[in-house]
Amino acid sequence: MSKKQYYIKTFGCQMNVYDSQRIVGILETLGYTPASGPKTADLIIFNTCHIREKAAEKVFSDLGRIFALKQERLAAGLDTVIGVVGCVVQAEDEQIAKRAPFVDFATGPLTYHRLPEILAKIGRKRGQTVIDTEFPAESKFDFLPQNRSSGGCAYLAIQEGCNNFCTYCVVPYTRGIECSRPVEDVLAEARRLVETGALEINLLGQNVNSYHGEDHAGKERNLAHLLRRLAEIEGLKRIRYTTSYPADVDDELIACHRDLPQLMPYLHLPVQSGSDKILKAMNRRHTSGDYLRTVEKLYAANPDLRMSSDFIVGFPGEEDADFRATLDIVNRVKFIQAFSFKYSRRAGTPAALMPGQVEEKIKKERLDILQNLLFSYQLKFNKDSVGKLMPVLFDMKGRHAGQLIGRTPYMQNLHAEIGKEYMNKIVNIRVTEATTNSLSGKTEG
Ligand code: 5AD
Ligand code: SF4
Repeated sequence: MSKKQYYIKTFGCQMNVYDSQRIVGILETLGYTPASGPKTADLIIFNTCHIREKAAEKVFSDLGRIFALKQERLAAGLDTVIGVVGCVVQAEDEQIAKRAPFVDFATGPLTYHRLPEILAKIGRKRGQTVIDTEFPAESKFDFLPQNRSSGGCAYLAIQEGCNNFCTYCVVPYTRGIECSRPVEDVLAEARRLVETGALEINLLGQNVNSYHGEDHAGKERNLAHLLRRLAEIEGLKRIRYTTSYPADVDDELIACHRDLPQLMPYLHLPVQSGSDKILKAMNRRHTSGDYLRTVEKLYAANPDLRMSSDFIVGFPGEEDADFRATLDIVNRVKFIQAFSFKYSRRAGTPAALMPGQVEEKIKKERLDILQNLLFSYQLKFNKDSVGKLMPVLFDMKGRHAGQLIGRTPYMQNLHAEIGKEYMNKIVNIRVTEATTNSLSGKTEG
């Protein structure tokens, strides 16, 4: 009998990308092999995102298409198991059973390690959706198999969940409260990633800088400690961590940016808004002044460091003056990259019920203005890179033969025609051209 094939589609953040890799690890231990596309897959999994309405709706529309595919395969005598996993399941398990009853199983982001059990149950219970959205007592990380190999650039989840309860955000409800992996587990995974080819590790967590994992002696350690230990791993050339919460950036973490050459000079630190009134309504534990002071300290620790951020426009109660304060903080910090969003009303979060909901038209106008300003700084930074020699880690094939795509220390995408022998290597590249979204360059000589 031929081996069963799987196909996974991942929506949303890097944590989902990481989780999907771990799910692949489970499927491979169960004997599944990757399918070239959904049409030939016996098992189709959607790993979903619930952060904004658009992301969640996309899952339901794509599921409709998968149902059509399932019926086509059925007509040809082929069975297809459809699974939905991730944050949409945690938040909307009843909606899934109602809107997509053809789904065979649905599990939240904290119970992937139970997939073998769930898949076995489906064998016994066809026609019924098996749903698992518990917040389990055990940590999924203790049970998930390791990825067998990594490319030059690897993700490593060190922390999951969030206790901040920003009033717009579903994460504390979908990913649960904060939980950190023990220091030794993280170090062991990092060493293994380096042994299988990783030159760069990006530490992941919803609130990664509130990391407080236990060491071998049971003592709680912070992110700064973990970074210093990781920096001792021979062969690990680049370390990043994302996503951080501004109020949790402490002096020890800032000192790492001064002391550790492996720590890339680029920090994603979402400010969300420049208005103190809005930050307060968002339940953020920082003002715009606090944020600017933190950035100043970071720049003092490493003058080459540059910042990126997330922004929300049109939060309930946001007036023109508040929006101008957001533009103001952009002009001060000069973020080199950013993600910006219109506020999306999420059921079950406090902000969904707040007075002063902002009209869609105004949200759109503000987003356009903000994005134009952000893009202008991004383009300026990219243009200023032209002529510089930058170490680039190549980890993707480009469109043409011989073209590779890699990342500079500042997470800029760089294209170069250098041949596949440079895949998963760090190469010094002279930057020759720049647009808002990418750079091009050449090797010297
Ligand atoms: N509406 C719009 N943007 C949101 N984000 C989180 N929740 C919402 C929401 N309800 C944004 C924040 C966060 C990023 C991951 O998504 O900017 O930092
Ligand atoms: Fe959501 Fe981030 Fe706020 Fe946590 S800190 S509630 S993940 S926006």
